[in-house]
Amino acid sequence: MSHDLADKTLFLETFGCQMNILDSELVLGQLARLGYRRTADRDGADLVLFNTCSVRDHAEQKVYSRLGELRPIKTARPDMILGVIGCQAQREGENLARRFPHVDLLCSPGELDRLPELIAAVASTRERAFALHGLQSRRSSTLDRAREHDALEALDLSRSFSPDASPIQAYVRVQRGCDKFCTYCVVPTVRGKERSRRPEHIVAEAQMLARAGCREVTLIGQTVNSYVQVDEAGTTVTFARLLERVAAVPGLVRVRFVTSYPGDFDEDILRVMADVPNVCPFLHIPAQSGSDRVLRAMRRQYTAADYYRLIDRAREIVSDVSIVGDFIVGFPGESDADFAASVEMVRRVRYKNSYIFKYSARPGTAAFRNQPDDVPEPVKRERNRILLDEQEAVCQQLNRELLGMTVQVLVEGPSKLAADGSTAVARGQLAGRTQADRIVVFDPPPGAEPASLVGSLCEVRVREINPYSVVGELVAVAAPLSAPRPAVTPLGYKGLTVLR
Ligand code: 5AD
Ligand code: SF4
Repeated sequence: MSHDLADKTLFLETFGCQMNILDSELVLGQLARLGYRRTADRDGADLVLFNTCSVRDHAEQKVYSRLGELRPIKTARPDMILGVIGCQAQREGENLARRFPHVDLLCSPGELDRLPELIAAVASTRERAFALHGLQSRRSSTLDRAREHDALEALDLSRSFSPDASPIQAYVRVQRGCDKFCTYCVVPTVRGKERSRRPEHIVAEAQMLARAGCREVTLIGQTVNSYVQVDEAGTTVTFARLLERVAAVPGLVRVRFVTSYPGDFDEDILRVMADVPNVCPFLHIPAQSGSDRVLRAMRRQYTAADYYRLIDRAREIVSDVSIVGDFIVGFPGESDADFAASVEMVRRVRYKNSYIFKYSARPGTAAFRNQPDDVPEPVKRERNRILLDEQEAVCQQLNRELLGMTVQVLVEGPSKLAADGSTAVARGQLAGRTQADRIVVFDPPPGAEPASLVGSLCEVRVREINPYSVVGELVAVAAPLSAPRPAVTPLGYKGLTVLR
C-alpha cells in the first residue's frame, strides 16, 4: 500500500462539540485534496483518525478503547496510519503516545493545518509525527502563535463550497479558544486563549456557503457573545454587529449562534434577534448551576439572580425566544440545597431542552487541583435523573402549547423515522427544523418530488407530539428552492493582518 497521491481511504470519527465537527469537515476537505476518500470500513482504511474531546472523561475512555481495538489490526496491517487529533491529543500528548505505541500521529486542534505534512512524514519515514503545543511544536513563541492564527485562518477559509457537497446548514467559527477559565473546564488549556476572527473573513465564508446553497448558518464560539474584533476600516465590531452583517448575506434564511456565556451579555444581541427576521429567536445559554455558592466555586462570573434577569430581558425583548441550557450535577461540594436550586432553575426558565452532565474531574483544571470530587457517583446519577425528569416535564408542557400552532420549518431532507415507527424514507416524509430548533416531520404535498422541497421554508401545522419530534401537516411552501446555483471556487487566502 502506498501513500502517494492516489486513491486512498480515510476513516474519521468525531467526538465532542460543534468546533470538532467543523474541524473534522476541514480535515476531510484538506485530505480529499490529497486523494483520500472517506470510508466506513475502519479496519480496512489506509488512514484512521479520531478527532477527540476532553471535556469529560467518558469521551476520552471511548477513544482509548478504540485505540485498543486497533492494536491487532495495526499489527496485521502495518501500513495503516493511525492518528489522534483534537483536544485529547493536546491534553494527553506524550502519555498517549507512550501508552499506545501503535499510534503514528498526534495533532492538536491548533495545528490541524499541518496534518497533511504529518501524514506525509509518517508515510515516507514510517516514524511517528507529532504536532502538539509545548512539545515539538514550531509554535511556542508569540510570533509563532501569530503564525498559527494565520495558518488556521487559511484552513478555515479553505473549506469546500461545492454546491453538491454543501448541506443546507453549516457552522462558521467566529472565535477560537476561551478565556473564561471556569474551574471545571479543560477548554482553555487545550484550545488556548480566546481569539476572535476577522469579521470580513466570517462574512466572506457565510457568503460562499450561501452561494453554494447553504440556507442556515450557525456561528460558533465557546463564548460566542464575547466576540469583538476590529474590521479593516478600523471599526470595532461587537457580536451584535457581526450578527447583522452575517444575517444580511443574501440567501441565508436563518442565522443562529452557540454558545452564549451569561456574564457580560450585551442586550444589543437580543435587539438584533428581535428586529432581524432571519436571526433565529434561539439562545443556548448554559447556567451550569442554579446555586450561587456553586457558581462561585465554578468561577462563573454571574449569580443566579443575574441569570434570571437576563432570561427575563430576553423574553421581554424577544417574546418567542427559545432557551437551551447546560447543567453540571455533582460539582465538588454540591449540597442537596445547591442541587435544589438547579431544579428550580429548570422549572423557572422553562428550557426548550437542557444538556445535563455529571461532573467529571479533569486533570489540568483548577477544580481538579483544588476541589475534591466528593459527590458520590450514585448521588450524581440520581441528581442527573431528577434534573432530566424535571426538564422532561417542562418539555411536555412546551410541546402541548405547540399543538395546533403553525410553525415555520426549514426542510432538511427525508425523515429517518415516521410517526408510526415505520421508516419515513419509504413513506417519502420530510423532516426539518423550526427556528427554535425543533424537529418537525410532515408529508410533502401529493405529487411533489420530496427532494425538490429540501432547502425550502414551509409552514406546517402541528398535529402530534412525539418525544423527539413533532408531526404536522404542510400548510404552505413559503420560499421555494431557487434555481441550481453555480459552482463556487474556494476563497483565496491573501496575506492576513494578524490580530490577537
Ligand atoms: N464535567 C462535566 N461537564 C462538563 N462540561 C464542561 N466541563 C465539564 C466537566 N468537567 C459541560 C458544561 C459545558 C458543556 C459543553 O459540557 O455543561 O457547557
Ligand atoms: Fe469541543 Fe471542548 Fe470537547 Fe475540545 S474539549 S472537543 S473544545 S467540547
